[in-house]
Amino acid sequence: MKSILVISGPNLNLLGLREPEIYGHTTLQTIHDELVRLGSELGVHVETFQSNHEGAIIDAIHAARGRHQVIVINPGAYSHYSIAIRDAITSVDIPTVEVHLSNVHKREEFRHHSVIAPVAAGTIVGFGADSFYLGLRAAARLATSQDKG
Ligand code: DQA
Repeated sequence: MKSILVISGPNLNLLGLREPEIYGHTTLQTIHDELVRLGSELGVHVETFQSNHEGAIIDAIHAARGRHQVIVINPGAYSHYSIAIRDAITSVDIPTVEVHLSNVHKREEFRHHSVIAPVAAGTIVGFGADSFYLGLRAAARLATSQDKG
Protein backbone atom coordinates (compact mmCIF):
# COMPACT_ATOMS: atom_id res chain seq x y z
CA MET A 1 0.00 0.00 0.00
CA LYS A 2 1.25 3.48 -0.84
CA SER A 3 2.19 5.67 2.09
CA ILE A 4 1.80 9.42 2.45
CA LEU A 5 3.48 11.59 5.07
CA VAL A 6 1.63 14.74 6.15
CA ILE A 7 3.91 17.33 7.79
CA SER A 8 2.76 20.44 9.65
CA GLY A 9 5.15 23.18 10.62
CA PRO A 10 5.42 25.78 13.38
CA ASN A 11 2.41 26.96 15.38
CA LEU A 12 0.05 24.52 13.69
CA ASN A 13 -0.05 22.52 16.94
CA LEU A 14 -2.15 25.44 18.23
CA LEU A 15 -4.85 25.12 15.54
CA GLY A 16 -8.25 25.61 17.13
CA LEU A 17 -6.85 28.16 19.58
CA ARG A 18 -4.67 30.18 17.26
CA GLU A 19 -6.38 33.10 15.45
CA PRO A 20 -9.56 31.06 14.80
CA GLU A 21 -10.96 33.82 12.58
CA ILE A 22 -8.10 33.01 10.16
CA TYR A 23 -7.41 29.34 10.78
CA GLY A 24 -10.77 28.02 11.98
CA HIS A 25 -11.76 26.03 15.06
CA THR A 26 -10.58 22.59 14.00
CA THR A 27 -7.67 21.22 16.02
CA LEU A 28 -4.64 19.58 14.43
CA GLN A 29 -5.54 16.33 16.20
CA THR A 30 -8.95 16.36 14.51
CA ILE A 31 -7.30 17.05 11.15
CA HIS A 32 -4.83 14.20 11.71
CA ASP A 33 -7.62 11.77 12.65
CA GLU A 34 -9.60 12.74 9.54
CA LEU A 35 -6.51 12.38 7.31
CA VAL A 36 -5.97 8.83 8.54
CA ARG A 37 -9.67 8.03 8.02
CA LEU A 38 -9.70 9.60 4.54
CA GLY A 39 -6.49 7.75 3.70
CA SER A 40 -8.15 4.40 4.36
CA GLU A 41 -11.09 5.45 2.19
CA LEU A 42 -8.62 6.34 -0.60
CA GLY A 43 -6.59 3.16 -0.10
CA VAL A 44 -3.39 4.83 1.13
CA HIS A 45 -1.54 4.65 4.43
CA VAL A 46 -1.20 8.07 6.13
CA GLU A 47 1.31 9.17 8.77
CA THR A 48 1.24 12.61 10.35
CA PHE A 49 3.99 14.70 11.90
CA GLN A 50 4.14 18.20 13.39
CA SER A 51 7.13 20.18 14.58
CA ASN A 52 7.92 23.75 15.48
CA HIS A 53 11.57 23.18 14.51
CA GLU A 54 13.05 23.55 11.05
CA GLY A 55 15.69 20.85 11.59
CA ALA A 56 13.11 18.32 12.82
CA ILE A 57 11.01 18.94 9.70
CA ILE A 58 14.11 18.44 7.53
CA ASP A 59 14.91 15.19 9.38
CA ALA A 60 11.33 13.97 8.80
CA ILE A 61 11.63 14.73 5.06
CA HIS A 62 14.94 12.83 4.89
CA ALA A 63 13.46 9.88 6.82
CA ALA A 64 10.59 9.70 4.31
CA ARG A 65 12.97 8.25 1.68
CA GLY A 66 11.99 4.68 0.93
CA ARG A 67 9.02 4.86 3.32
CA HIS A 68 6.58 7.35 1.81
CA GLN A 69 5.76 7.87 -1.87
CA VAL A 70 4.34 11.40 -1.50
CA ILE A 71 4.58 14.19 1.09
CA VAL A 72 1.88 16.72 1.96
CA ILE A 73 3.34 19.70 3.81
CA ASN A 74 2.03 22.84 5.45
CA PRO A 75 5.35 24.48 6.29
CA GLY A 76 3.65 27.36 8.16
CA ALA A 77 5.78 30.51 8.18
CA TYR A 78 8.79 28.50 6.93
CA SER A 79 7.00 28.47 3.55
CA HIS A 80 8.05 32.05 3.06
CA TYR A 81 11.78 31.73 3.70
CA SER A 82 13.13 28.25 4.46
CA ILE A 83 15.52 27.40 1.67
CA ALA A 84 16.65 24.50 3.90
CA ILE A 85 13.19 22.86 3.80
CA ARG A 86 12.99 23.48 0.06
CA ASP A 87 16.42 21.87 -0.38
CA ALA A 88 15.32 18.87 1.72
CA ILE A 89 12.35 18.34 -0.62
CA THR A 90 14.50 18.46 -3.74
CA SER A 91 17.17 16.28 -2.07
CA VAL A 92 14.81 13.37 -1.38
CA ASP A 93 13.03 13.72 -4.73
CA ILE A 94 9.61 12.75 -3.29
CA PRO A 95 6.62 14.48 -4.94
CA THR A 96 5.31 17.05 -2.46
CA VAL A 97 1.97 18.85 -2.20
CA GLU A 98 2.08 22.21 -0.37
CA VAL A 99 -1.05 23.19 1.54
CA HIS A 100 -2.16 26.26 3.50
CA LEU A 101 -5.33 26.70 5.51
CA SER A 102 -5.62 30.42 4.85
CA ASN A 103 -5.60 32.11 1.46
CA VAL A 104 -2.08 33.49 1.81
CA HIS A 105 -2.58 35.65 -1.30
CA LYS A 106 -5.28 37.68 0.44
CA ARG A 107 -3.07 38.35 3.46
CA GLU A 108 0.10 40.33 4.20
CA GLU A 109 2.52 40.77 1.31
CA PHE A 110 5.20 38.65 3.00
CA ARG A 111 2.86 35.65 2.84
CA HIS A 112 2.35 35.92 -0.93
CA HIS A 113 5.65 34.29 -1.77
CA SER A 114 6.44 30.64 -1.05
CA VAL A 115 9.97 29.34 -1.57
CA ILE A 116 8.47 25.82 -1.45
CA ALA A 117 5.92 26.29 -4.27
CA PRO A 118 8.42 26.06 -7.18
CA VAL A 119 9.54 22.59 -6.00
CA ALA A 120 6.04 21.34 -5.10
CA ALA A 121 3.96 19.16 -7.40
CA GLY A 122 1.13 21.60 -6.65
CA THR A 123 -0.24 23.93 -4.00
CA ILE A 124 -3.65 24.18 -2.30
CA VAL A 125 -4.49 27.34 -0.34
CA GLY A 126 -7.46 28.92 1.34
CA PHE A 127 -9.85 26.09 2.19
CA GLY A 128 -9.22 25.79 5.92
CA ALA A 129 -8.87 22.20 7.14
CA ASP A 130 -10.16 21.08 3.73
CA SER A 131 -6.83 22.22 2.24
CA PHE A 132 -5.23 19.25 4.03
CA TYR A 133 -7.93 16.84 2.83
CA LEU A 134 -7.73 18.12 -0.76
CA GLY A 135 -3.94 17.86 -0.49
CA LEU A 136 -4.27 14.24 0.61
CA ARG A 137 -6.57 13.49 -2.33
CA ALA A 138 -4.01 15.02 -4.72
CA ALA A 139 -1.20 13.08 -3.00
CA ALA A 140 -3.12 9.79 -3.25
CA ARG A 141 -3.59 10.37 -6.98
CA LEU A 142 0.13 11.11 -7.38
CA ALA A 143 1.09 8.02 -5.37
CA THR A 144 -1.11 5.65 -7.31
CA SER A 145 -0.27 7.15 -10.72
CA GLN A 146 3.45 6.49 -10.07
CA ASP A 147 2.85 2.85 -11.05
CA LYS A 148 1.04 3.66 -14.27
CA GLY A 149 4.02 5.35 -15.96
C1 DQA B 1 -0.17 29.02 6.99
C2 DQA B 1 0.11 30.39 6.36
C3 DQA B 1 1.44 30.94 6.84
O1 DQA B 1 1.66 32.24 6.29
C4 DQA B 1 1.45 31.07 8.35
O2 DQA B 1 2.71 31.50 8.79
C5 DQA B 1 1.05 29.81 9.04
C6 DQA B 1 -0.08 29.07 8.51
C7 DQA B 1 -1.58 28.50 6.61
O3 DQA B 1 -1.80 27.30 6.73
O4 DQA B 1 -2.46 29.29 6.23
O5 DQA B 1 1.60 29.44 10.06
O6 DQA B 1 0.77 28.09 6.49
